[in-house]
Amino acid sequence: MPISTRIFSLLFAGALLGAPAAFAFSTGPRGPVAGVPTDNNGANCTACHRTFAPANSDNTGRFQILVDRLTYTPGVTKKIRIKIEHPEAQRWGFQFTSRQASDTTKGAGTLVGNDSILVRCGLTIALPPCAGEPEPQFAEHTQASTRAGTRAGVEWEFDWTPPANEVGDITFFAAGNAADNTNTNANDRIYTTSITLKAEGACNLTRKPTLRTVGNAASFARELSPNLMASVFGLDFEVAGRTRAASTGDFVDGAFPQQLACVAVEIGGRRAPITYVQTDQINFQVPAGTPAGSVPLTVILNPGRPNEVKSDVATVTVNNHAPAFFTFGGRSIAAQTSDFRTIADPAVVPGGVAARRGDVVILYGTGFGLGEPVYQAGEIASGQVPLRDRVTITVGGTALPAADILYAGLAPGNISGLQQFNIRIPQSAATGNLPISIMVGGVSTPAAGAVIPVQ
Ligand code: HEC
Repeated sequence: MPISTRIFSLLFAGALLGAPAAFAFSTGPRGPVAGVPTDNNGANCTACHRTFAPANSDNTGRFQILVDRLTYTPGVTKKIRIKIEHPEAQRWGFQFTSRQASDTTKGAGTLVGNDSILVRCGLTIALPPCAGEPEPQFAEHTQASTRAGTRAGVEWEFDWTPPANEVGDITFFAAGNAADNTNTNANDRIYTTSITLKAEGACNLTRKPTLRTVGNAASFARELSPNLMASVFGLDFEVAGRTRAASTGDFVDGAFPQQLACVAVEIGGRRAPITYVQTDQINFQVPAGTPAGSVPLTVILNPGRPNEVKSDVATVTVNNHAPAFFTFGGRSIAAQTSDFRTIADPAVVPGGVAARRGDVVILYGTGFGLGEPVYQAGEIASGQVPLRDRVTITVGGTALPAADILYAGLAPGNISGLQQFNIRIPQSAATGNLPISIMVGGVSTPAAGAVIPVQ
């Protein structure tokens, strides 16, 4: 922050400075003063450094935000330099912030601090890790990087990572202080500046997408169900060679986004959360409220933009349940030991181990219906969420007693379409590839690949 800690006690002691009331005094006189029009009416350092107010009144100095190009690529880190010059000044400071140009109250991306840069988060200018209020972020000089005694000018450099999803134009705002090195807020020249960056590779998909098949992301069976993890296969969903997996940076209100890399899927009139996109495949989750029956599905490129392109409408079948195990290459169930080692033939998954009789194993699948409470598609199960409907699990053809089904529910910490079963392998089970099936709502997991190696 532009102010050394010393000043806070002065301010609390008796209003030496008439700092604007808008500043958050609960955390000290720190506030957003980078000159963003929507932050305290564009407040900048002249709120306190008033001698030469308003900002930019002394044109013998210069203040710049420097970038290689006035564009950004979503998710790709970029270097930012802040340069300030003045013939008389001998101490220096700045504050910088990045915002969505369409709404400057919204932050745009994250900043990386370093030895001479302090990053703060949210309009309360909290110190990292800034839980709950990560954006907008601010970069500021440190006490040391004011470089007291340095003449002519200085530069600071730091990294900025734009949002993983393009958010249209992004504006950088900064305010700088070319100070006189007297440890006061008098006789300091204040400057403000801003630059706007355009998104590169923004939504400009041009071809009409073609749908081939839609199915269960685990078994590729054609039937879908509410909250199922599903895949669409086809052509021209994305620029060839570009792949995009959703990460927490893409999350909207804590859930997977309803568009990713300029691609959306509409099913039964609802937008589905997207987890992955490449030119011939989209992975998505069927919304929880999708009605059973024959339902229309459309892939939409550049959604909501003037250049929006839609695929032809496909018709898909939605049942109440469409259970299937995720598999390792269709050879065995995606499974883990209770200490999270992969259960698989090591020829299929290097490092894979066999399960042992009597052990608890964890099996993963999708399409087993909703949890209780109901999580919407795209939401993350925050803890154990049991399945709403009862399951029957058979191992080697014999139904497991309830006592050996330790958990049947959403996979905690994962998207609500991923289900997890913790079961005990009976002592009496056969060794070798042991078949497992789970039935829910009268529908069983397909037999193909539904085995785990047991020794
Ligand atoms: C709430 C009032 C307040 C605001 C807003 C404020 N400052 Fe200051 N600043 C002070 C005070 C008071 C001092 C003198 C005491 C000190 O150095 O901590 C000071 C001192 C400084 C100094 C050292 C000055 C010198 O001559 O030695 C720098 C550099 C500085 N501020 C930078 C900034 C920058 C950059 C901003 C805007 C981004 C800013 N300040 C905004 C109150 C403020």
